[in-house]
Amino acid sequence: MLKNSMNVAQLLLLQVLLAIVIHISADESFDVRQHLSTVSRYGVVKDISDNSFVPSQITDQCTPIHLNLVARHGTRAPTKKRIREFEALSARLEVLVRDAKEQKQSSDNIPAWLMGWSSPWKGKRTGGELIHEGEDELYHLGIRVREQFPDLFSEEYHPDIYSIKATQVPRASASAVAFGMGLFSGKGKLGTGAHRAFAVTSESRASDIVLRFHDCCQSYKDFRKSQKPTVEKLKEPILDEITQALVRQYGLNFTKQDVSSLWFLCKQEASLLNITNQACSLFRPSEVSLLEWADDLESFILKGYGNSLNYRMGVPLLEDVIQSMEQAIKAKEEGYASGSYEKARLRFAHAETLLPFSCLLGLFLEESEFELIQREETLQFPRKPPTKRNWRGSIVTPFAGNNMLVLYSCVSNNSSKYFVKVLHNERPIPIPGCNGSDSCPFEVFKERIVAPHLKHDYNALCNVNLEQKEKNSAPSKLSQMFSWFFSLRNAVTPAQNVEL
Ligand SMILES: *[C@@H]1O[C@H](CO)[C@@H](O)[C@H](O)[C@H]1NC(C)=O
Ligand SMILES: *[C@@H]1O[C@H](CO)[C@@H](O)[C@H](O)[C@H]1NC(C)=O
Ligand SMILES: *[C@@H]1O[C@H](CO)[C@@H](O)[C@H](O)[C@H]1NC(C)=O
Ligand SMILES: *[C@@H]1O[C@H](CO)[C@@H](O)[C@H](O)[C@H]1NC(C)=O
Ligand SMILES: *[C@@H]1O[C@H](CO)[C@@H](O)[C@H](O)[C@H]1NC(C)=O
Repeated sequence: MLKNSMNVAQLLLLQVLLAIVIHISADESFDVRQHLSTVSRYGVVKDISDNSFVPSQITDQCTPIHLNLVARHGTRAPTKKRIREFEALSARLEVLVRDAKEQKQSSDNIPAWLMGWSSPWKGKRTGGELIHEGEDELYHLGIRVREQFPDLFSEEYHPDIYSIKATQVPRASASAVAFGMGLFSGKGKLGTGAHRAFAVTSESRASDIVLRFHDCCQSYKDFRKSQKPTVEKLKEPILDEITQALVRQYGLNFTKQDVSSLWFLCKQEASLLNITNQACSLFRPSEVSLLEWADDLESFILKGYGNSLNYRMGVPLLEDVIQSMEQAIKAKEEGYASGSYEKARLRFAHAETLLPFSCLLGLFLEESEFELIQREETLQFPRKPPTKRNWRGSIVTPFAGNNMLVLYSCVSNNSSKYFVKVLHNERPIPIPGCNGSDSCPFEVFKERIVAPHLKHDYNALCNVNLEQKEKNSAPSKLSQMFSWFFSLRNAVTPAQNVEL
């Protein structure tokens, strides 16, 4: 018996030692900036990829004839709500440090930066805008896209040939402008950069069902609200565990809310300011991985494969993409003169646009999961680390994350003349619906990937039981007055939802 428990103790000791060794070696290669979920910078994650994937070879007989781009805006400043959260955090940290000192605890464990910390965004009264780093991401993306597809971007600019659309949100339209400046640089007559003017058009945000379908879809808004408690509950054990660990380590009485704010601060510092030795250094790599997973879980449930409505409501965008390809094929078949038809449709929007769009294409799924989705069955949640998972916010939608669908025309191919190739963050990506290849014949793409979604109608999906709604809202004079009053208020402070 005694011998046995000795063995157990030795085994435990060995495991602890092993864990420490693994911990140390993991530390060396661990770059927190690659683990910031949807707050990740494009340049930091763009080249992380699955090296085992072999892209398909497009032959000389094939030329690109049309490009669809769906991009998220670039790196942006924290929103006003988050700026306030940081000011509250600053006050909280002061209290925590003071309490620790009053308890006459040694403050050796308290990181120096944390004493007297004040938010770098303190006093800023505006938020959410595209920052310089974000401009840079989109500007260079524009240049690279032109270099990668010289055939597509050789025409003289015309708004019908290169259509550029953004949502009616400043960081998205500024992203479109930065991209266009890169795309057309050197081709105009303006200034030393030989820039040229180009048009960026937007639908009203109240009715933009192509790029802001999430914001116009009542049943989605209801779903999202109803899931809040579920998501909180799922994240809670992670936050609890990490909160306890931090309290133990630093001797400060952090609450879960504090830790949640500190994780958000870590993401902003690392992403926007390239600072990783403050808030981020409070967490060990294994803790960062768990916090990252919790964020990814949330986006999976509220914006991704977790619920079919999340992506089905993107059907108008998918229709827009397919329609642009069909037009391009028609122009090709009927031999329209070069320079007389659209060559690229470029869209600048949000994580709430890009995530569902990737889901509509079936990206980041295993092939077996693609079958499940087609049968309308639900997927399992992304697996907890250290198990690997495909659904990582830092890869799926970093700032400036994007999908490009390139339509190729092939002259000497017997089986199919048109092919669709999908690039995610500029790299070929396997499409489970195309047998895991990154390209597929246009007909197959339409049949296997697009058609199942187009059975669904946006209005039917999004308008919860219209009759019911009308009954509920039979307005009295007073409530009419209130709604008038609130609509005025809303006009003054739009975007109540936290948007990525
Ligand atoms: C041309 O067709 C062959 C099979 O007929 C296929 O293997 C090849 O991938 C096609 N070309 C392109 C560009 O995909
Ligand atoms: C933290 O909270 C515990 C229990 O509430 C208390 O005993 C302890 O003194 C507090 N420590 C500090 C540093 O405030
Ligand atoms: C960010 O900091 C790292 C060192 O921590 C440095 O190597 C890197 O060049 C910095 N990046 C930028 C964009 O300043
Ligand atoms: C097309 O298919 C026919 C018969 O299947 C074959 O004889 C011909 O060589 C093929 N042409 C090309 C360009 O692949
Ligand atoms: C995928 O593979 C199966 C069997 O190997 C084949 O029947 C099917 O046509 C392929 N689909 C595509 C899109 O290549």
